Amino acid sequence: MSEELPKAYRGIDFLKVTEVRHWTDKTFSFRCERPASFRFRSGEFAMIGLENGDKPLLRAYSIASPNWAEDLEFYSIKVPDGPLTSKLQHMKVGDDVLLRPKATGTLVHDALIPGKRLLLFSTGTGIAPFASVIRDPETYDKFDEVILTQTCRELKELDYGKHLMEEIANDELLSEVVGDKLRYIGTTTREDSELTGRMTDWIRDGRFAEMTGAPMTAENDRVMICGSMAMLKDHKQLCLDAGMKEGANSEPGEFVIEKAFVD
Ligand code: A2P
Repeated sequence: MSEELPKAYRGIDFLKVTEVRHWTDKTFSFRCERPASFRFRSGEFAMIGLENGDKPLLRAYSIASPNWAEDLEFYSIKVPDGPLTSKLQHMKVGDDVLLRPKATGTLVHDALIPGKRLLLFSTGTGIAPFASVIRDPETYDKFDEVILTQTCRELKELDYGKHLMEEIANDELLSEVVGDKLRYIGTTTREDSELTGRMTDWIRDGRFAEMTGAPMTAENDRVMICGSMAMLKDHKQLCLDAGMKEGANSEPGEFVIEKAFVD
């Protein structure tokens, strides 16, 4: 970091990128160093970005790594004309990524009251905060069953989620904690695959209940939702229809939502 950086960079950490992985032409993930003093709760987001003249270019990103991890992982969309992602997607190992070391968010255990099943509904890169939540042992302390769903347009976009599941299965410690409590259901909407259709439709027409053994209910289920505004709206309505109350950090409830951040 240069000595002459403008004021706007005060309090921002410069972190070395340690891994970059391109999953599709629209998505990539990367890892970077974690500052020793940076704390977060699994499921939270922080502002990350790049150096950009007088003012750093920062956007909200869900942290995909769990709170105990030694490094930070992010899963990002590539928007061709997006101010940040159009540049970020070209990052290489050894480059610097900027972090404002303050995490926040609602997709956290603190915002949910106790329940039996934890349902994590995502579309696209909305899976990122759940990549964190499903690798946190607290999740399995609190719930008997954890079901992560991800709906994407094409099959290849489900690779990140499938890889996550493999990573957990291959991790000696984590796989013991997770046991057989975790399930990933990936569906596609614009390409044929084993499982097709929006999860909202699955909930409405009974496929979700059939696949998971029970319909979504306010009594048993706690829900976290992350995706586009339209997706949040529809999933939220299904939760309200089931008699659930929206939770917040200040007042925990039965479901919580957060926009998947894109630029
Ligand atoms: P679909 O292909 O039927 O629109 P997007 O890239 O537009 O954000 O979509 C990502 C995935 O989310 C797609 O599979 C898309 O399905 C699905 N999706 C979009 N809108 C909704 C919604 N309102 N509720 C549930 N799923 C949605």
